[in-house]
Amino acid sequence: MKTDSFSINYQLVPHGTEKTDLIFYNNINEIFENLLNECSQNVICTDSNVANISFVKNFLEKAENSQSQIIIIPAGEENKTIESVLSIIKTALKNSFSRSCRFIAIGGGVISDMTALASSLFKRGAKLEIVPTTLLSMADACIGGKTGCDFDNYKNMIGTFYPASKLHFCPEFILSLNQTEYLSGLAEVIKTAMLYSTELFDMLKIEHEKIMAKDKEILFKMIKACALAKANIVEQDISESGLRKQLNLGHTFGHALESVAGFGKISHGQAVAWGIGRAIEMSLNLGLCNKNYKDEVFELLNLYGYSTEKLPSIVENSLQTKEKLISAMKQDKKNDASGISFILQKSINTTEIQTVEEKEILLVL
Ligand SMILES: NC(=O)c1ccc[n+]([C@@H]2O[C@H](COP(=O)([O-])OP(=O)(O)OC[C@H]3O[C@@H](n4cnc5c(N)ncnc54)[C@H](O)[C@@H]3O)[C@@H](O)[C@H]2O)c1
Repeated sequence: MKTDSFSINYQLVPHGTEKTDLIFYNNINEIFENLLNECSQNVICTDSNVANISFVKNFLEKAENSQSQIIIIPAGEENKTIESVLSIIKTALKNSFSRSCRFIAIGGGVISDMTALASSLFKRGAKLEIVPTTLLSMADACIGGKTGCDFDNYKNMIGTFYPASKLHFCPEFILSLNQTEYLSGLAEVIKTAMLYSTELFDMLKIEHEKIMAKDKEILFKMIKACALAKANIVEQDISESGLRKQLNLGHTFGHALESVAGFGKISHGQAVAWGIGRAIEMSLNLGLCNKNYKDEVFELLNLYGYSTEKLPSIVENSLQTKEKLISAMKQDKKNDASGISFILQKSINTTEIQTVEEKEILLVL
């Protein structure tokens, strides 16, 4: 029996903003002057470490005297929870802020992902600006509108696509980052180089010393190269239906390791760097890339001190760990019904996505 039916045709549901402005500054105070000059209803969200950086502390003191509301979340991936996201939303609600208010994230990827999620949910979408303060966030996390929090021990299981209207970059923030967090960001820079830029790949090899010394000029170059590469991809595929999936190189393995080790036990970038090694070894096993490319990638990873071992020492070397890793990979958002999919490479800047059988996964673990 057939009943009547009809469809409602939509324009694509708006993602909160039509464009994102990427603004590069030479010093941090310029960012804060710029932020204080605009819009009075601000929800400023940062974490307990970033709130103690002197520039940020001064800004928060000034902002407190205006109509801005400040929320400081305890630092760390283990606090990337739906409860933290709700606490950001509550801060805006408690102060009767309207939808035209502005959410400002000042921090690394954890803070920007959660503030962006809160901003996308608050009254169905408020304005969002991000001040990324880690290399990882500047090179990757703040660009492209993916928002989220972890849930039920899985990475970024709750989230939306909601790009910021403005991103304020200043490499000066990176000077106060500790070595672990700096290296965490460099992993995403290596990933971007492997995917899109031989020039950046060469720079990572040749300028190792300057990079490790956080040379300001090199930092600017790296951040701009990564921002441009990611901007180009998200402009073509904001909702990750195709091309954008490539940006997950190393992440299927990396996210699984973060889950299995326990959130906050290993930095995101360190896990991704390990995952990049695993993905390239898998590419070699599957006959996609040659040994020279694998060796070149491993050499670069080792140069920056990343593990290229089958299993890093943070987890127990056992069959049970491998099974747990595979089980976590099954939750990956890129998968479809045919199995676990991986971003693999034929060579530098030549990438493909394949569904891979479990026996091939076990071979690289
Ligand atoms: N949305 C995306 O597209 C995307 C992409 C990649 C990663 N991510 C997410 O980003 C997160 C990782 O980001 P992250 O590495 O920036 O982590 P993070 O936000 O936890 O920051 C790392 C640490 O550095 C501290 N910190 C931040 N800025 C500092 C500064 N200037 N000086 C001193 N300390 C500072 C933080 O307090 C924290 O302890 C993960 O949750 C990951 O899922 C999101």
